[in-house]
Amino acid sequence: MQPEAPSEAAKPPTTSAVNRLVIRRPDDWHVHLRDGPMLAAVVNFTARQFARAIVMPNLAPPVTTVAAAEAYRSRIVAALAPGLSFTPLITCYLTDGINVGEVERGFASGVFTAAKLYPAHATTNSQHGVTDVRNIYPVLEAMQRIGMPLLLHGEVTDKHVDIFDREAVFIERTLSKLIRDFPALKIVLEHITTEEAATFVAQGPATLAATITPHHLDFNRNAMFEGGIRPHFYCLPVAKREHHRLALRRAATSGLPKFFLGTDSAPHAVGSKEAACGCAGIFCAPHALESYAKVFEEEGALDRFEAFASEHGPRFYGLSVNSERVVLERVAQSVPARIGAGGEEIVPFHAGASLIWRFAGVVDA
Ligand code: DOR
Ligand code: ZN
Repeated sequence: MQPEAPSEAAKPPTTSAVNRLVIRRPDDWHVHLRDGPMLAAVVNFTARQFARAIVMPNLAPPVTTVAAAEAYRSRIVAALAPGLSFTPLITCYLTDGINVGEVERGFASGVFTAAKLYPAHATTNSQHGVTDVRNIYPVLEAMQRIGMPLLLHGEVTDKHVDIFDREAVFIERTLSKLIRDFPALKIVLEHITTEEAATFVAQGPATLAATITPHHLDFNRNAMFEGGIRPHFYCLPVAKREHHRLALRRAATSGLPKFFLGTDSAPHAVGSKEAACGCAGIFCAPHALESYAKVFEEEGALDRFEAFASEHGPRFYGLSVNSERVVLERVAQSVPARIGAGGEEIVPFHAGASLIWRFAGVVDA
């Protein structure tokens, strides 16, 4: 990263002196791009900032075959605005009955980059997910053998477990067994929300990593209830107590290569959020980098932003880093209250607020 000071450039820049950030172009290692008109409305927010993204497969129906993945990838590419260079990396949705040969074929041909485990009924469109991890042990064995990463929605679905404990219990009951039984399987614990997860990943084997969202770094669970019920702060895993948020901030800014950027941007039309049973998900794609930059600056860790955003992810996946750079400038911008999306509207993360950083574009190396 090359932080640039407006004057006195010879001095090491203090945080407050940095007005422009130039970092290697990042990737988003966890995003929901949806399909149809919603895909067309949201994909370019991700594609303007990120070179690549791990695209989640929880469509209806889910992406479980190589043919479905290829078709989805083509629809994403067709929806890109002219001039944007962006590569969608498609994931396979694991089901109890997933075909092992199909998963292997998809990975070998470069169509599937990873496979996603949704515990059945854990979140949006997860009803076809896995009811018991033992049902997918054959596919996990194959993935371990071929080097295909397993991406986890790390929450138990046991209704007897308090919703705020479901991630920590998943680590105890499921993740620790997966690591024991598949010591060479690459595993990403997605969108971590707890101190337990941050510690477990930091102390775990080199095969284990985690993504961290901008919103879980930004607010704690009180945000959902401030003066009333606030559905635009609801996502899964749900935000936890303040000490968990602080632990996530320490993990993200630690410089440890096990933690990397994954927005979990999950758009839902406003009517599906503001409802008696509102959907989980926060649409953070429009200002994702600005949002992370704010956190790194607040933590006095702008010098570690590039590694988190642009280096740790590709290194874990075994991919090359991007050669382009992106520029962020210290220019205040206000975030719109709503964004139009194919005849619907979505409320973005930070709606109505002012952000201190502004994404200024991509530049060649
Ligand atoms: O909040 C979430 N929204 N969490 C998920 O795991 C899924 C996502 C979605 O697809 O809406
Ligand atoms: Zn997600």
